[in-house]
Amino acid sequence: MWHNAKVTELLGIQYPIMQGPLGANFSTVKLTAVVSNAGGIGGYGAYTLRPQEIVDVNAKVKAATNKPYNINLWVSDNDVPGGTITDEQYEETKKIFKPYFDEAGVALPEKPAPFKSRFENQLQVILDIRPKLFSFVFGIPSADVLEQCRKQGIKTAGAATTLDEAIALDNAGVDLIIASGFEAGGHRPSFLTTAEQSTTGMFVLLQLIKEKVKTPVVAAGGIANGRGIAAAFTLGADAVQIGTAFLATEESGALPVHRKMLLSDAGKYSTLSRAFTGRLGRGITTQLAKDLAGKEKQFLPFPLQATFMSSLQKAALEQQRWNLLLFWGGQIAPVLHHTKAATLMQSLIKETAVIMER
Ligand SMILES: Cc1cc2nc3c(=O)[nH]c(=O)nc-3n(C[C@H](O)[C@H](O)[C@H](O)COP(=O)(O)O)c2cc1C
Repeated sequence: MWHNAKVTELLGIQYPIMQGPLGANFSTVKLTAVVSNAGGIGGYGAYTLRPQEIVDVNAKVKAATNKPYNINLWVSDNDVPGGTITDEQYEETKKIFKPYFDEAGVALPEKPAPFKSRFENQLQVILDIRPKLFSFVFGIPSADVLEQCRKQGIKTAGAATTLDEAIALDNAGVDLIIASGFEAGGHRPSFLTTAEQSTTGMFVLLQLIKEKVKTPVVAAGGIANGRGIAAAFTLGADAVQIGTAFLATEESGALPVHRKMLLSDAGKYSTLSRAFTGRLGRGITTQLAKDLAGKEKQFLPFPLQATFMSSLQKAALEQQRWNLLLFWGGQIAPVLHHTKAATLMQSLIKETAVIMER
């Protein structure tokens, strides 16, 4: 049977299908639980949450499913040396974004307050609440933390966007490596070199990693149906991780307009842009993303750029000025049609079985 894989045994799940954790409020307890209850593993993206909020989310997920689930953090959550930026740097950023703030009739905000990393405190909660799986992006936790996870029975999964990152994760002794192809929606979680220099497609990345690394590999990026799952397994994947297709379901935290965009013709065009958060991420192409390509030097570092853009985004949503936004999503959006997570799961399982078991 296609689903009797190493990963199902490792995680104690029925199907090697991971719902990609969706950070910044796009995850919900319901989505995580529906996927875990359907035999996959739901993932909750918790990187923006305070430690107590992670404790609360964990209690709610536990109440909604008795199956294994994944909680996800960002190892590096700050690109600002010293937490802040100079006034000169801020003036440069204001200059190029002013026309868009003017268009929405929003005043340019004050310089964002310094940011302090949350990762260390969040990590402590993970070690306390002990989810079955702790997945992470943008780096590798210390050897000591990984050892504590092993002792507590927490399985670990780290994301790689290059072969070098996969080798580093393998050397660190993680349980799973997520091969994150450049088709994927959301941020590009590179950590050894720039995201722009780490744009390998999932099918190539998966094969490179399988060639060199023994740790089981999860294919992420551009998978949304049984054909995609079967193809990834044929190329050696031990499991798959699916994000955009779950983002488009009612159970995700995406706004109705965002889900509608993913399922409409707009989903045909996607862009990698740093304009919205300061880190490179993929979403549906809009005018602002197109206009500001090449001007990255004038953006603020992550996450200050996200703070800077928040009032513009709020106004743009209220005024339905979609061209000032970036609706996160991956290249596979045009093939999506499911609007319910349970039906999506059932169809992924059924379609994969038809192909893999014939
Ligand atoms: C809106 C959005 C937010 C995401 N946030 C995270 C995150 O916080 N942590 C993470 O590991 N992956 C995150 N991802 C990546 C997904 O978990 C998954 O790996 C990816 O979406 C798979 O590619 P696909 O979009 O082509 O299905 C995010 C993806 C999207 C679309």
